[in-house]
Amino acid sequence: MLTHIKDLAIKLAPRLVEIRRHIHSHPELSGQEYQTAAFVAGVLSSSGIHVQEGVGKTGVIGELQGTGKDHRLLAIRTDMDALPIQERTGLEYASHTDGVMHACGHDVHTTVGLGTAMVLSQIADELGGKVRFLFQPAEEIAQGAYWMVKDGAMENVSAILGVHVFPSIPAGSIGVRYGALTAAADDLEITIIGESGHGARPHEAIDAIWIAAQVVTALQQAISRTQNPLRPVVLSIGKISGGRAANVIADKVQLLGTVRSLHPETRAHLPIWIDNIVGNVCNAYGAKYQVNYRQGVPSVQNDYSLTQLLQLSAEEAWSSDRVQVLPEPSLGAEDFSVYQEYAPGSMFRLGVGYKDRMINHPLHHPEFEVDESAIITGVVTMAYAGYKYWL
Ligand code: NI
Repeated sequence: MLTHIKDLAIKLAPRLVEIRRHIHSHPELSGQEYQTAAFVAGVLSSSGIHVQEGVGKTGVIGELQGTGKDHRLLAIRTDMDALPIQERTGLEYASHTDGVMHACGHDVHTTVGLGTAMVLSQIADELGGKVRFLFQPAEEIAQGAYWMVKDGAMENVSAILGVHVFPSIPAGSIGVRYGALTAAADDLEITIIGESGHGARPHEAIDAIWIAAQVVTALQQAISRTQNPLRPVVLSIGKISGGRAANVIADKVQLLGTVRSLHPETRAHLPIWIDNIVGNVCNAYGAKYQVNYRQGVPSVQNDYSLTQLLQLSAEEAWSSDRVQVLPEPSLGAEDFSVYQEYAPGSMFRLGVGYKDRMINHPLHHPEFEVDESAIITGVVTMAYAGYKYWL
């Protein structure tokens, strides 16, 4: 079966490169994936896959019934949205849309999802159960997975597989990781309210800017002294605004930030921990404050047996030196974790780096490029793992 799957994928290769380039040239921002969705639906239909459009706003679902009677439903998820970045690759198939670029490889993900669907549709009589292909919108704004779930994408799903490109692994290789793959990403908004006054007479005022500076410092220091260093927390204040004039003491400052963590227990106590520190600093100097902690997507936690399924499938398909067990998670975020609240899942990293280049630009870079030979690696790995799921 492995040889058969490889043959099918290799035969599809030119078409898949064409598909990827088409999607790459026509990137669409989160929640606006209208053309991409219609294109995906067309490819799926022409492979005899049952298609449902408009799932999760601009998402698409394809379903393929294998001949086996196993009741377990396997979902395979890819994402379709691009980023507000001006492409600078100079490729002949570079973005046709000003200021929008597939700089996170979601064009490759969509292609791998389609390729997997095309391959599996040709061996449907060998599949033990039903496969549901999820093509989700709006991953970059961490909303698409919620939209898909709300429209029933995870109903009856027993397991879910996903993929993300990774430029620091060479094309032809993949990375798997047991346990945490990405971080929980939460939003933080702190407002500090002091009292205005003359810049020459600070003692008559409550200086919100000075207190905000102390809050930022106190939070960073408290991480190093009060958080378990083996359970990382990253808190970055990315925006700070307040004040009125050079000689007027500021009465109000707003801080916006992101908070990343890997362990659910660590994450659970962060809102109170932050509130305490901000509150105590503000109280010490007579300021009022407000902390708004909004939970974003949870951490992607890869299921053991599904990760093993991916690792073994890839090792059989490619040899073990092309499969890396990743030693570290990333503190980036991925809304694949949202699906994992409904069924166990595992996401692998697909190497897309050029072996002969000194620099492979990182994700979200205007010159980010992928070695397209990775598409076949992704399709075979995903299709073979899918086939083996019911064995
Ligand atoms: Ni991405």
